[in-house]
Amino acid sequence: MARVHSIHRCAGCGTSHSRWAGRCAGCGAWNTLVEQPPPPGPGRRVGGALSGPVPVPIPLCRVEPAERGIRPTGLGELDRVLAGGLVPGSVTLLGGEPGIGKSTLLLQAMASMAQEGARALLVSAEESPQQVRLRAQRLGALPEDLWLVAETALPGMLAVIEDLVPDVVVVDSIQTVFDPEIGSAAGGVTQVRQCANRLVRAAKAGAGDRAPSVVLVGQVTKDGSLAGPRVLEHVVDTVLSFEGERHHALRLLRATKHRFGATGELGLFEMTSSGLTGVSDPSALLLGDRRPGVAGGVVVPAMEGHRPLLVELQVLTVVSSLPMARRSAQGLDGGRLALLLAVLERWLGLVLVKVDVFASVAGGVRVCEPAADLALGLALVSAAAQVPLPADLVACGEVGLGGEVRQVSQIQRRLAEAARLGFTRAMVPLSSPPGPPGLELVRVATLAEAVGLLRLPVAEAQAHGGTGGPGPGPAAAPVTNR
Ligand code: TYD
Ligand code: MG
Repeated sequence: MARVHSIHRCAGCGTSHSRWAGRCAGCGAWNTLVEQPPPPGPGRRVGGALSGPVPVPIPLCRVEPAERGIRPTGLGELDRVLAGGLVPGSVTLLGGEPGIGKSTLLLQAMASMAQEGARALLVSAEESPQQVRLRAQRLGALPEDLWLVAETALPGMLAVIEDLVPDVVVVDSIQTVFDPEIGSAAGGVTQVRQCANRLVRAAKAGAGDRAPSVVLVGQVTKDGSLAGPRVLEHVVDTVLSFEGERHHALRLLRATKHRFGATGELGLFEMTSSGLTGVSDPSALLLGDRRPGVAGGVVVPAMEGHRPLLVELQVLTVVSSLPMARRSAQGLDGGRLALLLAVLERWLGLVLVKVDVFASVAGGVRVCEPAADLALGLALVSAAAQVPLPADLVACGEVGLGGEVRQVSQIQRRLAEAARLGFTRAMVPLSSPPGPPGLELVRVATLAEAVGLLRLPVAEAQAHGGTGGPGPGPAAAPVTNR
């Protein structure tokens, strides 16, 4: 019989090693490997032979489809991301940085579900009942069938779930739950994984539509150092991530994994003094504080899931005092910024090596799709030349390494959103279909052509790019349509 070897797992990133080592090969951390007990009981296969009954395969077409009634949460934006609501017997992980609003979102969802007749149980492993009550009061979320237990030990919470038979259970947060049968401290990979596994089993053990929908809250730090939630992603059915800048009111909810629907949808919330409210017109909110006429600013019709979203992209260039100039991309992909700088240098002769470049998306939104390339290129030239772009212009297109402007997905939906918000001109790839009424399309083949049509002075940008130049120049000339 084969000897069973124990394995060593990194408490930081979860990588398993066949033997102990001082340093984890996965994340490079020192002294983080913890020995794991060997798997319990004899294996089903002993020496290659099967020791149990032979499993019986069945034709897939004869598998009974599970008809499970989805439970809407009552929060439109959350239901949109969940493709309808929470599925009985499913486990959802809600990840996000501390303070982003996870507890608030789930308390609101539970209260609304309880109001609709569902029984909701909040297992608070982080906050006292008084703290939770205070938040609920603030949210006006105190229905009858919303239950609370402040418990960190797993057996206790499993017993409560069994007794109360709730329709929805929220465990806040999974990092603070511990199973006393496991020696290690709460929050470690072993604890988090084991506790989550037991809660998953509890969810799946429920009968059909009466099975609880379980939601686990997972804290994620900005640098991703706490790997807890990462190791859970394959255990759960759905992974939601709640994002946003803590200093901005806008919060974005996405599904990065969803076994019961598509993952492309985006939910948008605004954090107010009385909780999270769904944002019905995000573009208007994002462009609310825009100051037209500032060099380096341009609006992009971006797509978030199936939703068009108008965001302002801003670039600021200043002469660098560092031996190697800074490139900062906030809410944008640093790789795309580097690519655009290379394209500007190679195809427009605009060299910004001695200039610090700060590029960002206003409002705390992330726009990482290549469709923002054309706008980013224009913003870079506009910032360096100190010439503002026309205020009624949006730009959208992917820029290739040859400086060519390529078509992007769902261009019509993007342009419709731009027209709806009152923009009158859109710079788009050559192959674009006709735009919506009221929006004049300016089709361009290359970034150089776009810069030329806007009469952005590249030579001037090169001469005083980032020096502050002669102060804001006149707005870029009106574009001519083909
Ligand atoms: P919280 O839900 O506790 O965040 P998380 O569970 O992700 O750590 O809420 C975080 C912040 O939201 C907190 O700093 C206070 C703020 N907040 C509001 O602005 N309005 C509200 O109605 C509530 C309940 C919280
Ligand atoms: Mg919380």
